[in-house]
Amino acid sequence: MSGFGVHFIARILCDDRFPMRTQVAIVGAGPSGLLLAQLLHRAGVDSVVIERQSADHVLGRIRAGVLEKVTVDLLDQAGVGQRAHAQGLVHEGIELLFKGKRHRIDLSALTGGSHVTVYGQTEVTRDLMEARAAAGLPSVYGVQAVSLHGFDGAHPQVRYVLDGIAHEIECDFIAGCDGYHGVSRASVPASAIRNYERVYPFGWLGVLAEVPPVSPELIYANTERGFALCSMRSATRSRYYLQCGADENVQTWSDEAFWDELRRRLDPEAAQRLVTGPSIEKSIAPLRSFVAEPMRFGRLFLAGDAAHIVPPTGAKGLNLAAADVGYLSRALIEHYRERSSAGLDAYSQRCLGRVWKAERFSWWFTSLMHRFPDTGAFGLKRQEAELDYLVQSRAASAALAENYVGLPL
Ligand code: APR
Ligand code: PHB
Repeated sequence: MSGFGVHFIARILCDDRFPMRTQVAIVGAGPSGLLLAQLLHRAGVDSVVIERQSADHVLGRIRAGVLEKVTVDLLDQAGVGQRAHAQGLVHEGIELLFKGKRHRIDLSALTGGSHVTVYGQTEVTRDLMEARAAAGLPSVYGVQAVSLHGFDGAHPQVRYVLDGIAHEIECDFIAGCDGYHGVSRASVPASAIRNYERVYPFGWLGVLAEVPPVSPELIYANTERGFALCSMRSATRSRYYLQCGADENVQTWSDEAFWDELRRRLDPEAAQRLVTGPSIEKSIAPLRSFVAEPMRFGRLFLAGDAAHIVPPTGAKGLNLAAADVGYLSRALIEHYRERSSAGLDAYSQRCLGRVWKAERFSWWFTSLMHRFPDTGAFGLKRQEAELDYLVQSRAASAALAENYVGLPL
């Protein structure tokens, strides 16, 4: 269904039913919010999703595309895993390129048969949007002036404005799934929350192009010129990244300049095999590590990017978001079915245990693969020695593989 279709259905439901009451008000219709809504719906728990942007805008964002098994299992549980199974690419290994040579990390052999599925976040979001629309459930797109109230008591409310008209949702719980720049985390008093943050002194310049991938598996490259990543969306669509300056302007990168620089960061065989073509999308993303603690404030629960950000090296962002939502959906369902608050009480601690392990992994993989302003000749030699060790030692490779395919939920 097109974004317009989703928006249209949402508007009809919205106009008919507001002011409304629901069990869980979900702020944000990214993958976290939509997956939570779907898992709750399957268990008979009501929710309303509100989103600041249009459905088309949400679908226009290009994000990472590597799903852990835990994430695919949650998509199955939500009843939206069919396309990820049919069209997703099962990857049992990745390649590390350094000192001009590629080395394979056999994810499957090192983890007792596990793998990842390469399937774009945009497609995950589309599958979730369509499932929600098909079930006739309300998502309200294009809301403004969203504010959260009363979550420290028993009767929270979410207020917003749509087409100039004020609305209010009364609910039992609020799920803050509104990303790093959302209103949910910002609504918590500063004294109740602690933020941990590291900003990296570079960005990733990403290009999406309708060309076959240079290699069947992902290539993570450490080079004197900076990091590069060769990823893909399908057998005919590639996603490539180059480490670039944090303040660079994407307009200064022609497609030709991008392909030339990527070629320079690949080994000779891959450079020769690289197929280039016009970019469908080109953007620069900053890199950040961020965690907010705790993830629960009374009846407000943060999930996904609203609570934590990882740099994209290792593609943990969406997977962490899915894991949060897995814990939160279980806790809410248990609350309604069994009148138990055990899962809700344990939510923040459970998530943060997993979040910090993924934060550590993403920081480590980023530090190992990129040029920092102070890397210098010594730093590069140190990185290369660590990479040598990594590919030679089964224990070190296994530690990478175990984290890459994802820790158990
Ligand atoms: N009111 C309603 N919606 C909001 C508000 C607001 N005040 N502020 C932000 N939003 C919406 C955003 O427009 C966005 O669509 O919340 C949504 C949050 O979605 P994401 O940023 O995709 O975050 P999340 O769903 O947690 O997904 C995490 O996505 O950002 C990537 O790398 C991240 O892969 C990870 C995954
Ligand atoms: C992607 O395909 O966009 C991607 C893959 C792996 C990463 C990051 C991004 O580590």
